[in-house]
Amino acid sequence: MLDKEYVRRKVLELGKLNPRKDGVVTETGWYQEFNLNGIVTVENDLADQSTVDAIFRLVPDMRGKTVLDIGSNAGLRSVSCAIKGAHVMSIEHRPWYVKQAEFVREFYEDLCGRLDWSIVQIDILTGDITKLGRFNLILMINLMKYMTSEAEENLEELKLDAISKISTMSNSIVATLQRHKHSEYLTETCGFTLRKYTRSNVLRFGLFEK
Ligand SMILES: C[S@@+](CC[C@H](N)C(=O)[O-])C[C@H]1O[C@@H](n2cnc3c(N)ncnc32)[C@H](O)[C@@H]1O
Repeated sequence: MLDKEYVRRKVLELGKLNPRKDGVVTETGWYQEFNLNGIVTVENDLADQSTVDAIFRLVPDMRGKTVLDIGSNAGLRSVSCAIKGAHVMSIEHRPWYVKQAEFVREFYEDLCGRLDWSIVQIDILTGDITKLGRFNLILMINLMKYMTSEAEENLEELKLDAISKISTMSNSIVATLQRHKHSEYLTETCGFTLRKYTRSNVLRFGLFEK
């Protein structure tokens, strides 16, 4: 296991990586809750172990599955899927979250051995995500409502376009159920059916399949 002092230093460092447009570096901290050798990154019941367990209730067997975690943040769900034997790709557009995810991978690879987990920095609203290929399972957790982009024009159109593209990349999507039109877009326009759902303390998760 990585040395506790090293982990503490990295967690602090990686919580200070958010440069504003005026160049000032602000301390935004971590969004996802990890306990890394006793160092807790942050407390957040929107992104803690209970929210990972909810996904495994919907998809218990991850062995050998190809999984795309979109808007992965620091990779809380990605790493759990990889530890359970999935081949995982995380995509995330914010460079400081990519760096957090790379550290999370370093921590867990030290603990569990090599993981099949790649981390790609890409903006799903402006980048060509279909080039990433097809996956057995796509995770879109707390994403649809929160998609943002450098592209400030036509954001709503870009979001629906991204969801359409994503819907061609898998027959199986786990997404948080939020009462807004993006989840409905998956079922009403993209040909998915909501098969099962479950919840953590604060979130509802649905398994959508074609
Ligand atoms: C509310 S957080 C949820 C993070 C994670 N999925 C979870 O449930 O803990 C939304 C994440 O999506 C990422 N994100 C937002 N817009 C994105 C975009 N256009 N391309 C890639 N990632 C994006 C954010 O940077 C952030 O990490």
